[in-house]
Amino acid sequence: MPTWQKFLILPKIIRLARHAPKDRHTAWDRYWAGITATGEDSEVLWDSGSDSEFLGYKDTLLHYLDPRRSIVDAGCGHGSFTRALAGIFPRAIGVDVSEHAVARARSESRGIGNVSFDVRDLTAPGAGAALAAAGFVDDGGANVFIRGVLHVLDDDDQAALVENLKTVAGSGGTVFMAETNFQGNPLEYVSHLGATTHGIPAPLELAIRGLPMPGRFGPDERQRVFPASSWELLEDGDVAIRTNPVTGVAGQDRVPGYYAVVRPLP
Ligand SMILES: C[S@@+](CC[C@H](N)C(=O)[O-])C[C@H]1O[C@@H](n2cnc3c(N)ncnc32)[C@H](O)[C@@H]1O
Repeated sequence: MPTWQKFLILPKIIRLARHAPKDRHTAWDRYWAGITATGEDSEVLWDSGSDSEFLGYKDTLLHYLDPRRSIVDAGCGHGSFTRALAGIFPRAIGVDVSEHAVARARSESRGIGNVSFDVRDLTAPGAGAALAAAGFVDDGGANVFIRGVLHVLDDDDQAALVENLKTVAGSGGTVFMAETNFQGNPLEYVSHLGATTHGIPAPLELAIRGLPMPGRFGPDERQRVFPASSWELLEDGDVAIRTNPVTGVAGQDRVPGYYAVVRPLP
């Protein structure tokens, strides 16, 4: 779409974004409370409805993360990745600040014995220690998986969350992250995700209407919040984050992203 046409979408985006609650936790919980479908025909923007993205991570997870340790899925949403992780780790624990997300994750995980969920703000001081006290962290630490969460937090919240991840990982756990790293302005981002002058796909509209504006998370941000003085970088690179294939337009369901595997230094 030519740039001038993209600008025609702007007033609608601004109108929609005005509805988003200012308090981020309220925004997330209200968003999840309104979701009625996930997986195939999902209303969730970052839900591709398939395990293809996870399968692309599997070899890296098995290579670097201790397969005898539990894994905490930080900011698990409706738990699709938590359930996939439970297939390769002895225990998977999904943690999310939204009660409605966790309720949905629990109900979608019925019958899977090695999955648990916990409602918790992972930016709160002491959240990592509290997870351990609640029995969700193995002696010596648990692995951590985090997808699509750091890029929705501001700098202070990123730092606070990473402090908690450090506690969870302890001396034996390893952290795997995958985040969107779109190099463009918000208008280019919503256009990439399928917004046109004719309309905005419903999952995108729900996100714009309800959620804080996302940022990007790539190598520079990773170096800032997982500094080399405290974290060893084991591997990183580019990745495609799969989103809702709602428009059927080729490439619209893949957002340029970044992944990294890090471990706390002793
Ligand atoms: C873009 S969604 C990604 C969900 C899931 N990781 C996935 O990839 O399907 C971001 C998630 O982070 C959660 N979240 C946001 N802030 C959080 C916080 N401070 N503590 C825990 N979870 C948080 C939101 O409720 C939401 O479910």
